[in-house]
Amino acid sequence: MMKNRLSFILAVILALSFTACTAPIPEADPDLRITIPKIGKADSIVITGSSECVVIDTGESDDYYEIESNLQKLGIESIDHLILTHFDKDHIGSAPMIMENFVVDEVLMPDYTGNNQEYDLLMEFLEKDTVAYRYITKTESFSSCGCDFVIYPPYLDTYADSNDNNHSLITAVKAGSNSYLFAGDAEEERLTEIMAENIGEFDFLKMPHHGNYNKKLEAFIASVDPGYAVITCSDKNPPDKKTLALLKASGVKVYQTKDGDITILNYKDKIGIIQ
Ligand SMILES: [Fe+2]
Repeated sequence: MMKNRLSFILAVILALSFTACTAPIPEADPDLRITIPKIGKADSIVITGSSECVVIDTGESDDYYEIESNLQKLGIESIDHLILTHFDKDHIGSAPMIMENFVVDEVLMPDYTGNNQEYDLLMEFLEKDTVAYRYITKTESFSSCGCDFVIYPPYLDTYADSNDNNHSLITAVKAGSNSYLFAGDAEEERLTEIMAENIGEFDFLKMPHHGNYNKKLEAFIASVDPGYAVITCSDKNPPDKKTLALLKASGVKVYQTKDGDITILNYKDKIGIIQ
C-alpha cells in the first residue's frame, strides 16, 4: 500500500516535472534515456536504451565520481561506444578512469593530436591495448540503444584558431520520430562545415561549446531548428547572453546544467525533459 502510494506520488512529481510534453502523461519507461549531469563547464552525456549504452565525453578528471555515480544509478556496467568529441580536458579528463572501472567496448575519436596532459594520459591508457579505439575519419553510421547514430568528423587537419574545438565530432541520433544533435565544442569553422552537410533539423540540440557565442551560431540554430536545447555550463562559466537571446528569439526551450542534472526521456513521438 505504502509502495503504491509512493509510486503514485513519484508519478505525479514526474508528470509535473515534464516540461516538454503535453498530455497524455508519458508512461514510466522511455525507449531512450539521455542523462547530462551537472559537472560544471564540461560534457558527459549518457545515452541508454535497449540494454545498450553510448557515452559522449567524460568531463574533467575531477568529475569522475560524479560521472561514475550517474552511470551506477543507471545500472550501467559496460559502455558499447565511448565517443570522445575532441581532446580538451573538459571532454576527456575522466576517460582513463572510466575505462579502468567500466567495460568499454570501443572508443571513437577525431583524428588529430592533442596537446595537453589529459590527452597524453588518454593515449597512454589506450596504447596499453586493453580497450579498442579508432579514429573517425569519414561520416559513420551505426545502430545502438535501439536508435540510429551518425558521427560527422571534422573536414580539416588544422583550423585557423589554434584550439581543439573545431576538431569536434558531431553526433546525430534518430530515435523513433525524434532526433537529437550533439555538437561538441564546435566553433565557427566547424559549424560552417556541418551546415554545409545539410544534415537537417533536430528536435533537440546539445549546444556547441558551452553556449559561447560566435558569428555562425544564429545560422546554425536556424538550420537545426531545435525545440529543446541543453547548455553544459556553470555559474562561474555561464553561456553568453547573446546565445541565450538567439535561442529565446527562436522559441527554443533551454536547459542549463548549471541548474542541475538533466534527464531526457524519449518516447516514440514525444520528448520529456526533467530537471
Ligand atoms: Fe568544452
